Amino acid sequence: MTDQNTPLVEMKNISISFGGIHAVENASIDLYPGEVVALLGHNGAGKSTLIKILSGAYRRDAGDILINGEPADIRNPRDAKGHGIETIYQTLAVADNVDAAANLYLGRELQTPWGTLDDVAMEANARKVMGRLNPNFKRFKEPVKALSGGQRQSVAIARAILFDARILIMDEPTAALGPQETAQVGDLIKQLKLDGIGIFLISHDIHDVFDLADRVFVMKNGQVVGHARTSDVTKDEVLGMIILGKCPPGAIPGPGAMVAA
Ligand SMILES: Nc1ncnc2c1ncn2[C@@H]1O[C@H](COP(=O)(O)OP(=O)(O)OP(=O)(O)O)[C@@H](O)[C@H]1O
Ligand SMILES: [Mg+2]
Repeated sequence: MTDQNTPLVEMKNISISFGGIHAVENASIDLYPGEVVALLGHNGAGKSTLIKILSGAYRRDAGDILINGEPADIRNPRDAKGHGIETIYQTLAVADNVDAAANLYLGRELQTPWGTLDDVAMEANARKVMGRLNPNFKRFKEPVKALSGGQRQSVAIARAILFDARILIMDEPTAALGPQETAQVGDLIKQLKLDGIGIFLISHDIHDVFDLADRVFVMKNGQVVGHARTSDVTKDEVLGMIILGKCPPGAIPGPGAMVAA
């Protein structure tokens, strides 16, 4: 059982530079079980870079990462997966020409005792996981390219869940989706919360994520402006954080908060 009081993820005082550019500077964020945390900020604010340090794509120059309260040395994507961290990118890594079950098990196919592909078991498991996430999904026999954006998202999420993700990172999850599909992804996220999974939603557009999030962190110029419960701040106040770096009373300021003159 996960302890609700111990953060699933703590990133503390994280910094990384590329050449002379401080892409992320002294940034701290955290995430609790069953929580959705939005990471907001303008283009180039450092959101993806910070989260790529968690997913093992980049090595930090400084700072600490704790998973379930324990220091975690994440050097590469495999280390991250070992800690139950899965990332779903906007450009979905689904294989277009095969069906949902084949996508779920891509690179990790189940085999029969005779060494052949166990299609029956893979399809049965796919139906079980997809049925929990997206009960209306029926198109198990079709290549994934025939599915809608929201359905493709659910396949990508099911794949992560099947491999025991406890921490899900979604970078701009609904940017390419229509309103109906966006709603579908919203439903998926609510389902994952009930399972105690923690989710980072990354977006440069507050409207994509505010209503789904329990808390928001705002970044600007590589620094954290501040964070807040979505129930303690208005969308306009969060926009003020994103655009001006100004922290409203309901938010806890970070190192990047504009200091009042
Ligand atoms: N591999 C890299 N090499 C050099 N500079 C990089 C690299 N990755 C990111 N940067 C720089 O780091 C800064 C932060 O970029 P990042 O992609 O994290 O921003 P973002 O907040 O995700 O923006 P967006 O909303 O556009 O996705 C930018 O100035 C970017 O040019
Ligand atoms: Mg980005």
